[in-house]
Amino acid sequence: MITLDYQNLFKVNALHGLDQKIFDVPASKIQDLLKKIESRGQGFYKILDDSETLLKINDYANTVKGKYKHMVVLGIGGSTLGITTLQKSLTHEFKNNIYILDNIDPDYMREVEDVIDLKETLFIVISKSGGTVETLSQYFYFRKKIEALNLEQKNHFVFVTDPAKGLLREIANTEGVKSFKIPENVGGRFSVLTPVGMLPAKLIGLQINDLIEGAKLARDNFYNPDASVNIAWQLAKIQFEMYQKGKFLNIMMPYSSKLKTFTEWYAQLLAESIGKDGIGITPVSAHGVTDQHSQNQLYHDGPNDKLIIFIELENFKTKLEIPNLYPEHAAVDYLRDTTFNELMCLEKLGTETSLTERDRPNITIKLPNLTEKSLGEFFFILESSIAFLGEMFKVNAYDQPGVELSKQLTKQYYERKA
Ligand code: PA5
Repeated sequence: MITLDYQNLFKVNALHGLDQKIFDVPASKIQDLLKKIESRGQGFYKILDDSETLLKINDYANTVKGKYKHMVVLGIGGSTLGITTLQKSLTHEFKNNIYILDNIDPDYMREVEDVIDLKETLFIVISKSGGTVETLSQYFYFRKKIEALNLEQKNHFVFVTDPAKGLLREIANTEGVKSFKIPENVGGRFSVLTPVGMLPAKLIGLQINDLIEGAKLARDNFYNPDASVNIAWQLAKIQFEMYQKGKFLNIMMPYSSKLKTFTEWYAQLLAESIGKDGIGITPVSAHGVTDQHSQNQLYHDGPNDKLIIFIELENFKTKLEIPNLYPEHAAVDYLRDTTFNELMCLEKLGTETSLTERDRPNITIKLPNLTEKSLGEFFFILESSIAFLGEMFKVNAYDQPGVELSKQLTKQYYERKA
């Protein structure tokens, strides 16, 4: 089970820390927030019961098994951040056959094209709206390449899109391209546990049932109105109270290279959900121990306007010893019978202790391990904490009017050009 350690908040001085009393909240208050969340009609917590879609994904994965050497995901934003996180966290960084195009950078696109064999590639096109210009442009580009080789689009493309609306849905219906549905009431940044994340995850060999199982565990906790146990509520409450004390930045800092992308997924979730009506928390991505040698100076001695959210991995898959080749030398004589695991752990302890002593508020989310189950649990804890946070700030966490406006303006610039 994932746990949240917020003891350091009580150790920093009253100006920058919190009092234990903030958690003395009656169950009725949390129930009220849950009712408000329910009234938004969002599906991110209901989709976990959709076992039929998981079966369809499994069936599809069986039909394409062994058919393709490469997979390329086409999409952007909430459509690709989830699968990028799953791929980076749970698969071998340097041995994989999936490329995720989360941008329209022509150099990057060409580099992907250089290493794939189009004849042996499956393109997974993901877009909730089915009309995002970046995703459609990527799709048009690769579809033309496929057709130039006299290959059939339906043998090389699969779509994940809205059940009824948008160009991709239209193409799927009229041109017979296999497709999966994103439930109408689930937005991009809340969609990792729908086919948006689950289809590509299954195709790269991940245990999608375990991801959902972990998420369900977190959902039980989300429904629990007891302030002393509901982690999603506790996290939201801390972020909200810290904001009142001028902590407008949240640094997410996993002590794990594999979780680096997780912070990007969370950055979108936090920024796009809460950043509206003049309110918002600015997400910052960092990772330990690397950023101890980069950003930590600022966290320690810069403006005290940050809440630092450490993520601790309690068990790495690998235990690696550090052989001390110079045990008598003063520079390294303390490195005795140790491992990289222990060094990582002690460095994190040193960093959080020094920050706490400088009255820099920080908390730690502890993950037992990096598995599908704990990642599913983690995704859901953060999605549901954003749902609570939206209600605390009284903003609609599920729209993104600013993003929409920029999309419309790009279209207008093209129209003016014509
Ligand atoms: O979270 C969101 O809603 C956005 O970031 C979208 O995911 C992003 O704009 C891509 O949109 P779409 O999935 O419709 O292509």
